[in-house]
Amino acid sequence: MKILLTGGKGMLGRTLQRELAGNEIVVADLPDWDVTDADGFMGRTLAAAPDAVVHCAAMTKVDDCESNRELAFRLNEEGSRNVALACKACGARLIAISTDYVFSGEPPREPWAWSETDIPRPRTVYGASKFAGEQMVQMIHPDNSVILRIAWLYGAGGPSFLHTMAKLGAREGAPLKVVDDQRGNPTSTKVVADVVKFLLARPDVSGIVHGTCEDQCTWYGLAKELKRLLGASFPREVAPCATEEFPRPAPRPRNSALKKSVLNVLGYRTPRWQDALAEFVGSGEFDGISDK
Ligand SMILES: NC(=O)c1ccc[n+]([C@@H]2O[C@H](COP(=O)([O-])OP(=O)(O)OC[C@H]3O[C@@H](n4cnc5c(N)ncnc54)[C@H](OP(=O)(O)O)[C@@H]3O)[C@@H](O)[C@H]2O)c1
Repeated sequence: MKILLTGGKGMLGRTLQRELAGNEIVVADLPDWDVTDADGFMGRTLAAAPDAVVHCAAMTKVDDCESNRELAFRLNEEGSRNVALACKACGARLIAISTDYVFSGEPPREPWAWSETDIPRPRTVYGASKFAGEQMVQMIHPDNSVILRIAWLYGAGGPSFLHTMAKLGAREGAPLKVVDDQRGNPTSTKVVADVVKFLLARPDVSGIVHGTCEDQCTWYGLAKELKRLLGASFPREVAPCATEEFPRPAPRPRNSALKKSVLNVLGYRTPRWQDALAEFVGSGEFDGISDK
């Protein structure tokens, strides 16, 4: 298969390059490929003639989106529109990566998880712009596309919450305060790449698919598990705290865990987040103290 990866140099894109290596890969990232340049992107995609496109390119810095609304929508909504139009024009299958932040996450109900059929109600500019991008894909290329929602992502090179925690945890100091009232599904880029491979082999599947790890935890729970796995290289204690202690420009969902209803109907189960994290830490991909 010839597979084009928008945002192919990003954290997820790099893992996809590695995991899809048996295919012909086209890395479509800045500066040569710009998803906001409708004509340029169309021309390049038609020339490349991919069988499938995995659309990872996005404005992913959630807090920056709050202060750059126009740019967030240009990338996440218009960019997705341009990618969908190009896929339609060349008959390529489209896997468009989206996010748990399309959901409000309110009120926190545990062990609540959002299903593919739940109606998004984003509370942030990032979430709203990604949801607008989903709608573009579904309007333009409904028959041969999947919206793949993922969450709490980490992978080789970062940046991610885990990279930040490992760096701070390696230093001596007062216990590290970590938010214990926001829940989600930590998910590795390797797990997402496996789901993408599955979906590429199932052209009969279209629509919204949730593709995170099984089970849910809080950021504090995730940090504690990372400390346990890193042992001596994470000497610092971690302590639970409330969201109110770390105010951010973009309000984080209290509970954005995702139910994998579609994958489960198809007989596909993602691993538990604890197992995926152990595999990542044990793989040597995680240098532990990088926050690139
Ligand atoms: N990270 C998470 O926790 C998370 C959670 C849920 C969903 N997601 C979704 O997963 C996808 C991949 O995320 P990620 O963490 O791998 O993101 P990332 O590391 O920020 O990668 C995004 C890539 O897209 C590139 N890009 C930016 N603007 C572009 C443009 N106009 N045209 C082409 N490429 C452009 C970026 O280049 P520059 O670096 O030069 O800007 C970067 O290489 C995104 O759709 C994101 O919304 C991520």
